[in-house]
Amino acid sequence: MAVRKLIAGNWKMNGLKAGLAEIAAVRDAVESGSTAHVDVLLCPPATLLAAACETAATGLAIGGQDCHTAQSGAFTGDISAAMVADSGASHVLVGHSERRTLHGEDDATVRAKAQAAWNAGLVAVVCIGETQAERDAGTTLQVLERQLRESLADEATAANCTVAYEPVWAIGTGLTPTVDDVADAHRFMREKLVERFGESGADFRILYGGSVKPDNAAELLSVANVDGALVGGASLKSADFIAICKAVR
Ligand code: G3P
Repeated sequence: MAVRKLIAGNWKMNGLKAGLAEIAAVRDAVESGSTAHVDVLLCPPATLLAAACETAATGLAIGGQDCHTAQSGAFTGDISAAMVADSGASHVLVGHSERRTLHGEDDATVRAKAQAAWNAGLVAVVCIGETQAERDAGTTLQVLERQLRESLADEATAANCTVAYEPVWAIGTGLTPTVDDVADAHRFMREKLVERFGESGADFRILYGGSVKPDNAAELLSVANVDGALVGGASLKSADFIAICKAVR
């Protein structure tokens, strides 16, 4: 069964209230029907979540960029999955490489965050990907195998979980893997998902992320087992993000 593609935007630590106009422009594109062939998700910073949900109305999903493993408590500055859901969001990113690298999050933490997301009724977008050093050492597939095994709990389903493959060296660099490398990595992840979750492993979305732009989106998104994109920089401008949505065939 072909999986319906998802184009997701991760604004990272960018976006003030004025940025809601970009979300409104994406909403308008979604409502016009010009992106009707894909699902569309935007993940603005936590400060904009509630307003983004009001702006998005129907058709455009909104997600958080992270959540804590705990439901509530003495965790100054953190945000719980319940808070993300309470803002009106439907998704949350977990395990982004910037969280793994800059905040020391390991696979066990990422798994616990995904479980917290599910407890709050959110879809967890679980990010994985090899570093440049791991790629140079020829261990890309081993890293992906470990991250998939350790970051996904047994309760993961195609409905509550999306995998986002983001080679760390491709994030924000303008570099992308070759189409063959993307195909190999995505085929491998698909095989691992089917091995573990049976036939339903075929229904999990596996997004590609890392320097996706309007001019390379069509090629990357046409690769087998690439079920969408997780877009960073190019999601900040609605025109670029909409162009990426439209690049899906
Ligand atoms: O989560 C998206 C991201 O890490 C990719 O960023 O700027 O390379 O598209 P970018």
